[in-house]
Formats: sequence, structure tokens, C-alpha cells
Amino acid sequence: MNDPWFEVGDLSDIPSPALLIDEARVRSNLARMVGIAGGVDNLRPHIKTHKMPAVLAIKRELGIDKCKAATFEEARIALDAGMADVLLAKQPVGPDIARLAELGSDVSVLVDDAGIARALPSGTKVFVDIDLGMARSGVPPERAPAIIATAQAADLAVRGLHLYDGHIHQSDLTERRAAFDQAMARVDPLLPLIDSPVVVGGGSPTFPLHAERAKNSSAEIRYECSPGTPVFWDWGYGHCFPDLDFQCAVHVLGRVISKPAADTVCLDIGSKAVAPDPPIPRIVVRGLEGAATLVHNEEHLVLKGQGAVPLAVGDPLVGIPIHICPTIHLHSSAWVLEKGKVVRQWQVTARR
Ligand SMILES: Cc1ncc(COP(=O)(O)O)c(C=O)c1O
Repeated sequence: MNDPWFEVGDLSDIPSPALLIDEARVRSNLARMVGIAGGVDNLRPHIKTHKMPAVLAIKRELGIDKCKAATFEEARIALDAGMADVLLAKQPVGPDIARLAELGSDVSVLVDDAGIARALPSGTKVFVDIDLGMARSGVPPERAPAIIATAQAADLAVRGLHLYDGHIHQSDLTERRAAFDQAMARVDPLLPLIDSPVVVGGGSPTFPLHAERAKNSSAEIRYECSPGTPVFWDWGYGHCFPDLDFQCAVHVLGRVISKPAADTVCLDIGSKAVAPDPPIPRIVVRGLEGAATLVHNEEHLVLKGQGAVPLAVGDPLVGIPIHICPTIHLHSSAWVLEKGKVVRQWQVTARR
């Protein structure tokens, strides 16, 4: 992994816990994303990682005008930021079917169920959701022709296929590629069933592999890559995927709030400030990289290790979350740094 730490200057006025964002790293991660994809046409980044209008504005500056969103709130801020083509990456059910009208015609949704395909208003733009083995949502490719036919017969605008292959996450790129090629061989026979199909694929681990397809595709088929995490990157992906050279752009600021033993500190970075979904450790704190996590609960993080010995109550520390996406919506705003200096705040507006 690149040097994960960025410069942080005087933070004495910033209450903790808080998010710190290095804007230059965000910009360079996004530029790198565009480079790997081979241009913005092949890119439909997921906005679930940041959920912030300010980051959407940077994406627009770079010419990115398509995105994926996980929720109605995310789709709303994407449209408000000027995204021309938003894929709300879930199948609408219950009241969401009627609520789609609020978002307008620049939004597409997923479908994997014949009953929902028949219930959606005619003309709704859809991608058929394909399950390549993750077993979360979608139909296996072999059952997709029936859903495609039902959606077409129901007069939906079938734009293409959606493949989220988060289970393909081998650290070794050769092994990852082998699993990817095997999965994609099951998708290829579906493409002739749709006019000018768009294949929206992947998150970060398979991003370079979907990007290769995008760069080598024929004019009739468009591949769009949908990574989300690279905008901020995190400790988990940085360590698992050395081939993906993004930089950690977000730190969580905390302070020592108590010192229960000479080699043990209690920080204010509880699970309200850093996502508790990965197993412990959930954050790597600078200077305490090898420390053992003794406690991580709502308001407290207790770390034990030699790095704690010189620390005193009140000392500020920064850490990098293992999993960044669910860390961001725990905060309503973030402090933005340029060359270590706090220059502005960005709001996290789509927290649900
Ligand atoms: C459907 C979908 N697409 C894209 C992504 C982005 O993946 P990543 O976080 O690996 O960049 C996710 C992440 O959870 C996702 O659920």
C-alpha cells in the first residue's frame, strides 16, 4: 500500500471524533479511476462511499455524468448535482414503486423478479440484476432470459445487465482474473437478448477486469465499471488489493480520553465514529498500528500496545477505518484539509 497517512497540521480546534478528508487525494483517486476505466464513458461509480454533494461536484468537473446509488436519498443528491444517468441499484418493492416517479426519468432501477417487472410502470428503465455467485440479489445467468423476456413484454426499457461480483475478491490478481473470466463466460450468452446492452459491473476488486472489457468492447455493447470505495479508499482494501494503487483519503480524528494503564489508551473513536461491521480491529490508528483492540463499543476504543506508552490524556490521534463506506454516514460532515490545514467542511447529506 502507498503511504496511507496524509499530513495533518494543527487540529486543536476540531472536536473529536471527526472525519478528516485530504482533498488532493480525493481528486487524484478520482482521476486514477477515470484513467483505469479508459475514460468517463466507461465509468458509473457508486456514490455510496461518500454520499456528499461536494464529491459529486468534483466528479462532474471530471466529466463523470453517470453513477450508481444505493438509496433514494443518494439518487436525489446525484440528480441535484447534475448526474444525467443514475442507477438506483435495488429492485423497487412496496411503496418504492410509486416513489420512483419522484426521481424522474433519468433514473434506472434493478429487476430480478417477474412480478415486479409486471408491476413497474411501462417505460421504466431497468437493468436485469444477475447473481454471479454472491447470493445477495439477482438471478443466476441461466434464469435471466425469462426475466429479460418478461421485462420486455411488460414494455419496460431494458437497458442491460447489472452484475455485482463482490465475492470475487482474491488478493492475487491472477486468481481474481480466473474467477472473473469464469463468471463472465456465463454472462456473454445473455447479451444478444438485449438491444445495444449496457453491462454495469463490479466494485473495486474487479474494477480493472471490467475496465479491460470496457476498453476492448465492440460498439454494440457498453461495459460500465461501478467501483465506489476508490474515492476514499480504506485500510481493508489497501491491504487486500496491492494492484489497486489508490490512496487513503480519509482519517478519523480521535483523542485519548483516558489512560487505564501505562501501555493502554482509551480513545473517543467508538462504533458511532467508525463502522463496526468488520471484525476487530475496525480502525488502524497511527502510531498504534500493532496495538491490540481490547474494547470497541459505542463511544470507546481501548488499545493496548507499546505505542500507547508516551501518550497522554488529551492527545489527538488519527486512524484509517478498515471499511470506509459505512463509516461515512455515521458523520453529518467532514473537515477538508489542504496540505494538512483545515480549509472547509463537506456535508454528508445522503446518510440514509
Ligand atoms: C451494487 C454495488 N455496486 C458497487 C459497489 C462498490 O463496490 P466497492 O465498494 O468494492 O468499490 C457496491 C459496494 O458495496 C455495491 O453493493
